[in-house]
Amino acid sequence: MSVEPRHMAPLRRNLSFLRRWLQNPRAVGALVPSGRSLASAMAAEIDLDAAGVVVELGGGTGNVTAALLDAGIAARDIAVVERDPTLAKMIAARFPEVRVLQGDAADLRRLLRKAGIGPVKAVVSGLPLLSIPDRICLRIIAEAIEALNRNGVFVQFTYGPASPISRRILARLGLEALRASWVVDNFPPASVWRYRTAAKQEDRRSA
Ligand SMILES: C[S@@+](CC[C@H](N)C(=O)[O-])C[C@H]1O[C@@H](n2cnc3c(N)ncnc32)[C@H](O)[C@@H]1O
Repeated sequence: MSVEPRHMAPLRRNLSFLRRWLQNPRAVGALVPSGRSLASAMAAEIDLDAAGVVVELGGGTGNVTAALLDAGIAARDIAVVERDPTLAKMIAARFPEVRVLQGDAADLRRLLRKAGIGPVKAVVSGLPLLSIPDRICLRIIAEAIEALNRNGVFVQFTYGPASPISRRILARLGLEALRASWVVDNFPPASVWRYRTAAKQEDRRSA
């Protein structure tokens, strides 16, 4: 029996990810999964003391999932939505205690209802929003915002210079955007953005 050296697992995951990208570049949206610093920067946006589940959209090979667990979020409080069946299986094998929902983020509330998951305190997204048509992007973000509880937060990374959610969608959904961090040691460098509804901002001020 051959035993795979420990350092081979990330390499194998990256190669699988690259293969998925070669088959469907627009849907996968990146050549390599997020690095550790970027995944940790995403996880750092989550309030560990608040009650509720963290939903991750577009789990890929599970690097952000790993960072959520490392940040101290219990596996039972994490649900990952991944549309690609091969990647969804990979995440489920890597983290057997995390709930993995194979499906489309545009159907988020239906997926969560079916799995009996909620309430949701944060949605962390690795979706390639810049390569998703604006109409579908609106539906995905609206689903996520509707799924969130009061004071919930939507976290998204981007390789682009501006908010990956367009001004039109921000205005339509009444969202406030904040660039939370800039991760230079990721390849490629990326920013983490945080979004909340303006009403939820009010709730925080009066709390
Ligand atoms: C850029 S990768 C990010 C992967 C991982 N979160 C990371 O940071 O390394 C985007 C992932 O989103 C998935 N994806 C794209 N569109 C999706 C959708 N509508 N619903 C669910 N997953 C989707 C892709 O299959 C891919 O795994």
